[in-house]
Amino acid sequence: RILIIDCGSQYTQLIARRVRELGVYSEIIFWDSPKEKIAAINPKGIIISGGPRSVLDVGSPVLSKNLIADVPVLGICYGMQLLAQLFGGVVERGEAAEYGHAVVEIEDSRLFSRCGEDKKLDVWMSHWDEVKKAPEGFRVTARSESGALAGFESADGRVAALQFHPEVAHTPKGREILSAFVFDICGCKADWTLGAEWVSREIEKIREKVKGGTVICGLSGGVDSTVSAAITQRAVGDRLYCVFVDHGMLRKDEGQRVMETYRSLDLNVRYVDAGERFLKALEGVTEPERKRKIIGELFIRVFEEEARRIGGSDWLLQGTIYPDVVESGHGGGGVIKSHHNVGGLPKDMKMGLLEPLRDLFKDEVRRVGRTLGIAPHFLGRHPFPGPGLAVRCLGELRKERLDILRDADAIFIEEIRNFGLYDDIWQAFCVLLPVRSVGVVGDVRSYGETIVLRAVSSLDAMTAEWVRLPYELLDTVSRRICNEVPQVNRVTLDVTSKPPATIEWE
Ligand code: XMP
Repeated sequence: RILIIDCGSQYTQLIARRVRELGVYSEIIFWDSPKEKIAAINPKGIIISGGPRSVLDVGSPVLSKNLIADVPVLGICYGMQLLAQLFGGVVERGEAAEYGHAVVEIEDSRLFSRCGEDKKLDVWMSHWDEVKKAPEGFRVTARSESGALAGFESADGRVAALQFHPEVAHTPKGREILSAFVFDICGCKADWTLGAEWVSREIEKIREKVKGGTVICGLSGGVDSTVSAAITQRAVGDRLYCVFVDHGMLRKDEGQRVMETYRSLDLNVRYVDAGERFLKALEGVTEPERKRKIIGELFIRVFEEEARRIGGSDWLLQGTIYPDVVESGHGGGGVIKSHHNVGGLPKDMKMGLLEPLRDLFKDEVRRVGRTLGIAPHFLGRHPFPGPGLAVRCLGELRKERLDILRDADAIFIEEIRNFGLYDDIWQAFCVLLPVRSVGVVGDVRSYGETIVLRAVSSLDAMTAEWVRLPYELLDTVSRRICNEVPQVNRVTLDVTSKPPATIEWE
């Protein structure tokens, strides 16, 4: 496996994903994790990530030379500056940040051996400090057009460094560079496939852990909880008891559709229709954070009632995935956001925790889902927030308003599918505003509801860009919504990216 040492870069998870896409298992650990923890991983290679700090500042991430003595290592950006400093090179503060597309001229080297004949590479740069001089005994392998040092390598090629980012899509030869590192320099094999073999091994692990015990699981209708349940069901059969709480804030026909999927997977699942209870608890509430809090708490209460109804359980199954673990700081990283799956469990919980997807990225969860026979249509659905339409129905939550939103949203999604754009979009949905406006239909004045169309592209939801949907699609959607949802007389488009906006409206 490859170990990625995180020095705080926004791209760290991307490095891990890129390595795994090559078929090599990779793991992220924060730079200040205990040495024993790093040593216990016994990696075949180490990649040091970029980071927002300067190696010249006190308190910025550091590594001991011992740690990387016996293993090939690749430093990227901040990682390169750190290696330069560790081995006696010179790092200086740059005059200005260099950010964006750049061209570098490369020399023959082990790291670039798969890049082909062209000695000029298009790359993505993002840095402030500069390595002015490579360490003694190291060779400069890349320079930018202005002559700045952009890569160096030890004589045996086992220590290599790049100022640019091979992990981002804007470095087209990045895959070749990472392949050369993991296969040629580290000697890894491409055996991380997540096919039938991985699934059988995981089923065996779950069996050993659970023994004869019972497992309870809350299904959300999303991919992670469904795949977790499907794989656990293969291990323990009907000793897995699933609960699907319908909080009344689902999309049109969603409850019914996900229940069909669950049944096709032979899951032992109970549908709890709690819509009215949630709406009652939310009566008159308009403040976004209060909405979320009420929904979160009631959700846990309903789930606990179900758990008591079946007389408790030995294990709680959760659909935690790797980004949740890393983002919550359990992978060693700083806390970016506390994820409910990881951080929100009751302290006095008596059940053991089962998290079969804990090591996987989202695309890997989908791959496991395919191996388990879950329909691609289901696995490819856009992410949907836990509080559901509550965060898209601004103002007071009433069934009539939620129904208007549901109908408009279904039309938008149907047309996006008709135009063949669904799989190119990270998330698309409608928002219902608490604002009415004046319209006119056949000489009659109307005073109707306002729908916002929101569609974004994104890699990981941390940043997102609004999608330039074709005018024809927008026109069709606008006409259909106003015709088929009579309460609506105005359709608008959200053209804000994240940042500064978030993806959801609340
Ligand atoms: P924002 O709105 O913060 O959303 O840009 C980022 C991503 O997270 C989803 N989201 C949630 N997912 N529970 C979830 O499981 C939540 O409470 C929640 N809030 C936002 C959102 O849909 C987007 O994909």
